[in-house]
Amino acid sequence: MATDKKVTAAITAVGGYVPEDILTNADITKMVDTSDEWITTRVGIKERRILKDDTKGSSYLGIKAVEDLLARHPNIKVEDIDMVVVSSNTPDYHFPTTASVIADGVGIPLGVPCFDFQGACPGFLYGLQIARGFVESGLYKKVLLISAEKMSAIVNQKDRATLPLFGDGGACVVLEPTTDGTGIQDVILRNDNAGNAEHLIMKAGGSACPPSHETVDKDMHYVYQEGQQVFKAAVTQMGDVSAEIMERNGLSHEDVAWVVPHQANMRIITATARRINLDMDQVMVNIDKYGNTSSASIPLCLWDYEERLHKGDNLVLTAFGAGFTYGSVYLKWSY
Ligand SMILES: CC(C)(COP(=O)(O)OP(=O)(O)OC[C@H]1O[C@@H](n2cnc3c(N)ncnc32)[C@H](O)[C@@H]1OP(=O)(O)O)[C@@H](O)C(=O)NCCC(=O)NCCS
Repeated sequence: MATDKKVTAAITAVGGYVPEDILTNADITKMVDTSDEWITTRVGIKERRILKDDTKGSSYLGIKAVEDLLARHPNIKVEDIDMVVVSSNTPDYHFPTTASVIADGVGIPLGVPCFDFQGACPGFLYGLQIARGFVESGLYKKVLLISAEKMSAIVNQKDRATLPLFGDGGACVVLEPTTDGTGIQDVILRNDNAGNAEHLIMKAGGSACPPSHETVDKDMHYVYQEGQQVFKAAVTQMGDVSAEIMERNGLSHEDVAWVVPHQANMRIITATARRINLDMDQVMVNIDKYGNTSSASIPLCLWDYEERLHKGDNLVLTAFGAGFTYGSVYLKWSY
């Protein structure tokens, strides 16, 4: 009697885009009271990309990333995509969805469902779990998952505590069913919402505090972060949740080809690698050139390192962000 092979959701293509304009640490020292030395040693960023055009939002970054994916992977046809999911903390609008704007921009067939969700910096990990559900259930065959973040739109140009940290970028993947044993193996998603919301928040603009002259005057439409509170939690949780997913899947550090950490601070990245005994040459890093691109940082790493990945490589993805929310994904690379 034939036994059915397990269906898993596999990443079958990656695309990415960062804007051409570069904002260096030297440029930032002309805007706020800081130094290249402070940013380099405390955070690990040398430069970040900025989408300078005020008429373009995160959808522009998403559209360029999808165009890149289609150009790099001619086997993926836009007319075969049957769902579009966008992770963004900086959507074009409250509504319509950025997913529908991107779908229109790249020519996704009419009728294909498109939606956004917000998962803070671990948004891409949430997106993989969402897409996995749709693919493994058999309901959808080619899910386009996009993370697009125009962080420069929500960063206070006068705040040295946040201005050096963030950059703009977009990246995307296609997820398809496979029975060859590769693809998403396990996911852990957690939320530590015990009074932590206030440590990393955009205070106004939503329904709890709608925009007004006062909220604008008080700079309440920008990222507000208590860096040390976030750092302490991120450094513990990203390491612990990576160790947990490895342990429950019987993986030792020798079995893991790459860890792909959210790119918020080089000190958090190195601590995470240390916690799971991985050498730094097995850690994907692009924080030095792109800064923190929120939910786009992990897929931008996959995009940067795509040519160095091999079928069957074990990858551990991990991220932490506002909420506090965090998680890890264990996947086997599929191509
Ligand atoms: C934001 C972050 C880089 C700040 O680094 P830090 O070492 O924690 O810095 P602190 O906030 O404790 O500030 C230390 C000192 O540097 C100063 N400082 C802060 N920003 C500075 C800047 N851009 N340039 C120079 N000095 C700065 C502070 O004023 C403080 O000075 P003091 O000691 O005289 O009071 C760090 O806390 C961080 O990475 N946090 C986590 C971010 C994260 O993981 N986010 C996840 C979701 S995106």
